[in-house]
Amino acid sequence: MPVSTQLPLPLAAERRERLAKPHTYLMCRPDYFTVTYKINPWMDPAIPTDTNLALAQWQTLYDTFIALGHTVELIDQIDGLPDMVYSANGGFVIDNLAYGARFTHPERQAEGPAYMRWFASAGFTVAEPQNVNEGEGDFMLVGNTILAGTGFRSASNSHEEVAGLYDREVVTLTLVNPNFYHLDTAIAVLNESADEAPDAATIAYLPSAFDAPSRAELERRYPDAILVSEADAAVLGLNSISDGYNVVIASRATGFEEQLRERGYNPIGVDLSELLLGGGGVKCCTLELRR
Ligand code: ARG
Repeated sequence: MPVSTQLPLPLAAERRERLAKPHTYLMCRPDYFTVTYKINPWMDPAIPTDTNLALAQWQTLYDTFIALGHTVELIDQIDGLPDMVYSANGGFVIDNLAYGARFTHPERQAEGPAYMRWFASAGFTVAEPQNVNEGEGDFMLVGNTILAGTGFRSASNSHEEVAGLYDREVVTLTLVNPNFYHLDTAIAVLNESADEAPDAATIAYLPSAFDAPSRAELERRYPDAILVSEADAAVLGLNSISDGYNVVIASRATGFEEQLRERGYNPIGVDLSELLLGGGGVKCCTLELRR
């Protein structure tokens, strides 16, 4: 018997060995990154942006993924679509099936077909969306469950569409704070392959970002989740990428970093301050390709 089974549960959970799994991501180099319109509270076209700094910070994120052993595929940014750098919004991909995005705001609508063309050229089956949805910004896979956000961007009828496409349970969660307008700004999936291990800090989230029924649902499903502070969420700390052990987070989210370490994860901080001017962080710049 391993020693940890004799320990009280919280300690045993903390001793659980975390295993890193290689992932494949789609990213978009921010060649034309800027902020020319305002569709979330983080954006202010009056504040100047520095495209070269955005490129350098993005490169650090890219290099971090490569150093961790992940594969990164690239889509070219289209001039005039500054938010295309947030590839998480380009679709939602499971079992080689890419559910395309249909954006809420006209400023981003041309990104939907651009990403769908990329998915098709990369060999994915593409499902044309019937309803408004912003891809992995609002859909997150945890074990065999899809957590689905609504309230600001993705419409709840897109959740039904996703339930019809993938053979998985879809759980609707309603966001209530405009600063956390996408699900991936309010929840971090830390262990994608483990919803059957509720004692294992499978997810982290900001409770106040959700309405009361959604909070209750999260508490029931993930009683041992990491609850992050408002301060860490306010630097988009939750907008992170985990491989099951290494968690790439905003370097300014120091409290979350500490919580992750306590729970047996290996947090790795990166600074994406320039991309934060568009209201996006680590996860927004990263779309998971599940073939
Ligand atoms: N400016 C973009 C927007 O408001 C930021 C998208 C952030 N992406 C994300 N997955 N949360 O749509």
